[in-house]
Amino acid sequence: MSVVEVRGLRVEYDQGGRRRGSSPSSRLAVQDVDLTLDRGEILGIVGESGSGKTSIARCVAGYQTATSGTVSVDGQVLTARRDQRDRRRVQMIFQDPYSSLNPAMTLRQALREPIAVHALRPGPEVDQRVEELMTLVGLDLVHLDAKPRRLSGGQRQRASIARALALEPEVLVADEPVSALDVSVQAVILNLLADLRSTLDMSILFISHDMSVVAHLCDRVAVMTSGRIVETGPVDDVFRSPQHPYTQELLAAVPPHPWSAAGGADTPMPTSTSDH
Ligand SMILES: Nc1ncnc2c1ncn2[C@@H]1O[C@H](COP(=O)(O)OP(=O)(O)OP(=O)(O)O)[C@@H](O)[C@H]1O
Ligand SMILES: [Mg+2]
Repeated sequence: MSVVEVRGLRVEYDQGGRRRGSSPSSRLAVQDVDLTLDRGEILGIVGESGSGKTSIARCVAGYQTATSGTVSVDGQVLTARRDQRDRRRVQMIFQDPYSSLNPAMTLRQALREPIAVHALRPGPEVDQRVEELMTLVGLDLVHLDAKPRRLSGGQRQRASIARALALEPEVLVADEPVSALDVSVQAVILNLLADLRSTLDMSILFISHDMSVVAHLCDRVAVMTSGRIVETGPVDDVFRSPQHPYTQELLAAVPPHPWSAAGGADTPMPTSTSDH
């Protein structure tokens, strides 16, 4: 069974920015979107700016209520008014790690907090869990007492992933998590997400406008334009033989990436774990 199932999702915004029901002045951002995410799967959503990717991500993560349609996790329909346990099940990672890291907190504080608030470990085990999380995302323990501004962009993104993992989610929703990073750092963060899928059997909804990034990381891809998914399938199939004209256009426009210069999903990414 799928971990996440989205059915008939529709999102409209009014001109003031608040989401609301159908009205002549509302802007339709997402329509007729169905998608599923299996356990341990990485599904990419790709499409041009404004195509509705973030709107879907926010609905799945519970930051936003759909105008209509449903989001289910493990077969249970979740509303935007999720209780504490349901909120924990889907965690979001943002393009800007500052969105999820409090600049006033050290990493130790930032990681302890969700564990304590949700009572995920008995008191004496909290620090051990914090260290485990640091190790899981490849952050040296010397950074435990650093605040976010003392970290590199890649280290900050690792820290925000650690904070998301502290809540022991079943699903990560990553909205353009590497778009703001240098290309060399992008690769190590993508490798980290791939590792988390393998070690934790994590399910990941990965949003990107970059087809070459999706080709490397994702198992399946959904291609969006103008609020709709126009093509979906295993990454290898979609890349080898794109069916929809918009997908063909997107693929034709893929610039060669330094770490995928040879093109294609089989090119290995760098294995370096350095963030600098
Ligand atoms: N809060 C909002 N108020 C009004 N319109 C919005 C709001 N958020 C998004 N939109 C509109 O909804 C559409 C989809 O936006 P969304 O952010 O989901 O796209 P996106 O694919 O994530 O784009 P990008 O690649 O630029 O991040 C766009 O037309 C956008 O202008
Ligand atoms: Mg977006």
